[in-house]
Amino acid sequence: MTATLLDGKATAAEVRAEVAARVAERTAAGLATPGLAVVLVGEHPASQVYVRNKRKACAEVGFHSELRELPASVSQDELLAIVDELNADPAIHGILVQLPLPEHIDPEAVIERIHPNKDVDGFHPYNVGRLSLRMPVLRPCTPKGVMTLLKRTDQTLAGLDAVVIGQSNIVGRPMALELLAARCTITVCHSRTRALAEKARAADVLVVAIGRERFVPGDWIKPGAIVVDVGMNRDAEGRLCGDVDFEAARERAGWITPVPGGVGPMTIASLLENTVQAAGLSA
Ligand code: GUN
Repeated sequence: MTATLLDGKATAAEVRAEVAARVAERTAAGLATPGLAVVLVGEHPASQVYVRNKRKACAEVGFHSELRELPASVSQDELLAIVDELNADPAIHGILVQLPLPEHIDPEAVIERIHPNKDVDGFHPYNVGRLSLRMPVLRPCTPKGVMTLLKRTDQTLAGLDAVVIGQSNIVGRPMALELLAARCTITVCHSRTRALAEKARAADVLVVAIGRERFVPGDWIKPGAIVVDVGMNRDAEGRLCGDVDFEAARERAGWITPVPGGVGPMTIASLLENTVQAAGLSA
């Protein structure tokens, strides 16, 4: 069997068109243009690329966007004061503080300072709590984007066995909550998990988010499974590759996301959806 590709690039383009239409509707109704503020601290090269892509996507759907670039030496108090300023700014509906932050800054303190209705990353404990209670407001972008892609398979998720490899606050944990809300039976695996291969082989839905190049070999894939690769790594030849051995896995899977062009574009598409949603919330 050769898997059907879950095309994140094409699906993200559809989502962006929907968001652009919602922006036009708001404008026609005399409502404010959605505004996103991105805060970038220091000169982390990957973060600079992500932030550039996020701002480009904002411009394409007609958002107002602002970039606050701060030196790595900025103090936590100075950063918190900027978040306060953005919380109070009526032209800003979404605030995204790009992670990772420098060592001397506590990311949890910064995330908690963002008004929950402007937390377009969905990382604030309020939004994580709402998601865990199946009453989501703003949902973390990558897992939300994965759920949008899974909907396009037309598979009934309820009752499937889902395995998430990775337990980060950004992807693994909220991913497990999303799949649980979709009524899958969830196993979350991490560095202390025993018999990982065996668990992966039992997965109807396998989501891999650990950031290790081609960590999952083809023979870990249950025939016909839905495989979602959140990884974005560079191999020894400098090529982008995921956490799954794509060429081997596609021979067994029913559906699979490519890298690049799978989950990555969906993360940005979800951020745009969250920002237009946040514009409809009062902060
Ligand atoms: N760093 C890597 N992924 C993300 C993300 O989704 N949001 C933020 N704020 N930082 C990140």
